[in-house]
Amino acid sequence: TAPIIRSLPALRAAVSEWKSKGECVAVVPTMGALHAGHLSLVEAAKAGADRVIVTIFVNPKQFNSAEDLANYPRTEEDDAVKLAPFGVDAIYVPDGATMYPEGFATTVSVEGLTDVLCGAHRPGHFDGVATVVSKLFLQTGADKAFFGEKDFQQLQVVKRMATDLDIPIDITGCPTIRDDDGLALSSRNARLTKDGRAAAPVLYAQMQKLADEVNAGRALKPALEEATANILAAGFTEVEYLDLRAKLNLRLMERLDEPARLFAAAWIDGVRLIDNIAV
Ligand code: PAJ
Repeated sequence: TAPIIRSLPALRAAVSEWKSKGECVAVVPTMGALHAGHLSLVEAAKAGADRVIVTIFVNPKQFNSAEDLANYPRTEEDDAVKLAPFGVDAIYVPDGATMYPEGFATTVSVEGLTDVLCGAHRPGHFDGVATVVSKLFLQTGADKAFFGEKDFQQLQVVKRMATDLDIPIDITGCPTIRDDDGLALSSRNARLTKDGRAAAPVLYAQMQKLADEVNAGRALKPALEEATANILAAGFTEVEYLDLRAKLNLRLMERLDEPARLFAAAWIDGVRLIDNIAV
C-alpha cells in the first residue's frame, strides 16, 4: 500500500523531492470512506500526473451538525487497501491539529456561487470546503487537482477560489459514477434502508426524464412540478430543491437559453441525497 503521511513537513519533503525531478503532482481531496466514485478520480489523476496524493480528512468545518460529523464513516485501513491497486504515491491523512491548530482564525469564503442550492440549505458548508481545500492545495503544492461533478457546486466554488487566490493549480471535473440502477455513488447511500435504497434511483430517473422534456421544449414549470410529485410519490419525504441553473454561474433559469444543468437535493430515510445532470 502507499505510504501514509500524517505531518505537513513530511508531505512537503516528499513533494519537494518529486518536484526537484520535474515531476507533475496531482492531488485528490477526499473525506475517506472511498467508493468507485473516488477511485475514478484517482484513476484520472494517475493518467494526468507523475505523482498522485490522495488526501483523507473528515473536515469538521463543513458539517452542519455535530451528529452528522460524528456519524461520518471513518475507514482508513479499508481506504488504503482500496487505493493499493492504483499505485498512488502518498495518502495524506492530517489530524485536526495539523489542519486547524490552536488559534486558527481564517475562513475562505466564496461569494455568490455559495448563496444558492446546497449553500442556501447548509449555512457555512462551502466556507468550510473552500477553507480546507485552499489549505490542501497550499500544503500539497500540487500542480493538478481532481474533483467529482457529483458535487458540481463544490467544483465551481473550488475553481473560483483557486482563481481568486492565484493558487497555481489546474482543476479537472470528472463525471459522476453511478450504480447500475442510476443512483449516484455516495458514502451516504450506506445509511439507506432496503426500501429507501430501492426507491432512491427515482431521483436520477426523474431528472433524466425532466432533461429530455426540457430539451424537447416542454415548459419548465409544469415539468418541474410533475417530477417533484413523482419523486415524493416514490417515497422521498422532501425535495429540498429541483432547479435548472446555468452551468457556469449557477444562475436560476426559467427557460433553456444557455448551457444548463439540473440540480436536486432530496431526503429519503432521513438521508439527504444530491445529484445533477447536464441538460
Ligand atoms: P468526498 O465527499 O469524500 O468526495 C471527494 C471527491 O469525490 C469529491 O470531489 C466528490 O465530488 C467526488 N465524488 C463523490 N462521489 C462521487 C461520484 N459518485 N462520482 C464521481 N465523483 C464523486 O467532497 C468532499 O469529500 C469534500 O467536500 C472535500 C472536497 C474533500 C473537502 O473536504
